[in-house]
Amino acid sequence: MRIVVEKDYESMSKAVADHIIEMIKKKPNALIELPGGDTPLGIFKELVNASKTRNVDFSKCFFVSLDEWENLGYETKGSCKQTLFDYLYKQLPIDLEKQVCFFDGKADLEKECQRVDQFIFDHGNLDLAVLGIGMNGHVGFNEPGVDENQYCTIVPLDAVTQSVSIKYFGEQLNVAHGITLGFKHFLNAKEVILIADSERKADIVQKVIEGPLKNEVPASLIRKVKNSTIYLDRQASKKLKHQSLEAGY
Ligand code: GLP
Repeated sequence: MRIVVEKDYESMSKAVADHIIEMIKKKPNALIELPGGDTPLGIFKELVNASKTRNVDFSKCFFVSLDEWENLGYETKGSCKQTLFDYLYKQLPIDLEKQVCFFDGKADLEKECQRVDQFIFDHGNLDLAVLGIGMNGHVGFNEPGVDENQYCTIVPLDAVTQSVSIKYFGEQLNVAHGITLGFKHFLNAKEVILIADSERKADIVQKVIEGPLKNEVPASLIRKVKNSTIYLDRQASKKLKHQSLEAGY
């Protein structure tokens, strides 16, 4: 896994956006998965800016959702769908119906798994998976103890994830389960990018990069993907024993 440490959140966001843009230039009809949460908001800002000022053409790419909270849809502020649509998709000149496939957390979740799996299979796997890291090391909603052999799946959310959810909704909602792309999609992806910023992620980032590869720390398993990069700001990299910029692991 390649490690890129940027000096702050803004430069990390710009570096990841540039990485995504380079990929789109090479493969205009790429299938890209982008995460919800707070970490990617700066990346989305850069991508929207690039579409307006740098002539980057998003009109041929396809986007697929990473995850969604059970029972939630676009109308709930803080849902993955609301985040992705408001901060990114609605601001890009793209056809939302044709180019974006998103989980509906209020529909039949088993059917949603089949629908999203099929969308990915129809495109022949993900070209790029961009993943945030949860405080417990989850990616998407693949919680500690993850089964790596799953495509889209419904997951009981652990206590850490449920309590962290308050930061998105301002209150504890009934989010006992999540629906998520499973690890098999990430392991089959042509390329994976992990992102983490801020000091509060420093402990889990150290485990993800320098700890053993284990299912209890789902994000550590991304090290199995040959073409993978983790982008950090300096604060998130603080606990790494091997401090380096653009270090190769
Ligand atoms: C959330 C979401 C993930 C997200 C991760 C990190 O629970 N399920 O998609 O990537 O946890 O979130 P944040 O970027 O807000 O720290």
